[in-house]
Amino acid sequence: MTTQTIKTILSRRSIRSYKPDRLDPASLDLIVEAGTYAPSAMNQQPWHFTVIQNRSLLDRLEASCKSVFLESDVEALRDVAAREDFSVFYKAPALVIVTGDANALAPQYDCTLAMQNMLLAAASLDIGSCWMHSVMMFYATEKGKALFNELGIVFPDSHKPYAAAVFGYSASPVPEPEPRKSGCVTLMS
Ligand SMILES: Cc1cc2nc3c(=O)[nH]c(=O)nc-3n(C[C@H](O)[C@H](O)[C@H](O)COP(=O)(O)O)c2cc1C
Repeated sequence: MTTQTIKTILSRRSIRSYKPDRLDPASLDLIVEAGTYAPSAMNQQPWHFTVIQNRSLLDRLEASCKSVFLESDVEALRDVAAREDFSVFYKAPALVIVTGDANALAPQYDCTLAMQNMLLAAASLDIGSCWMHSVMMFYATEKGKALFNELGIVFPDSHKPYAAAVFGYSASPVPEPEPRKSGCVTLMS
């Protein structure tokens, strides 16, 4: 038996090419609402959702996030970022940053679960998405924190970003899922 939910989980892919169209506001609301229905440790719901759709703000943030990849210790990240056509946010029309109260019990898990709800909710609405790790990497630097402030992207007190993803309508057909690794399940009797 395959439910619609299972079909969505099995067919969601990271999208790396977007149409410039803004997201339908009602769909965006639903996606964020889905995030707020994630489980959280002791039901603390320690999250906050920052939605950025301003093109010039996205472009300024993107340029800085790219520099994190270019300056990374990881050769693969440097190589990807060095490509002339590389765009960290893939020109997506929306970036959502899930911040969490760093003093909460398990904010990293809570925020990641919230983001996964959002990625799946988006897929169920035919909206593409892709996790953006560079946002967390950039915020972890002093330069990054300063730029967020300069751009007016201010999070609630004692919050920091634990999950970030871009959202938008895919510019090309959603690819088939990659084969799954085998041998990653132990069924104990
Ligand atoms: C913690 C984490 C960090 C990721 N960072 C990035 C990223 O910065 N840029 C990107 O294009 N994809 C990023 N991804 C997406 C993965 O590359 C993608 O999920 C993986 O290749 C599997 O493909 P799929 O999502 O289409 O199944 C990240 C995923 C995770 C879970």
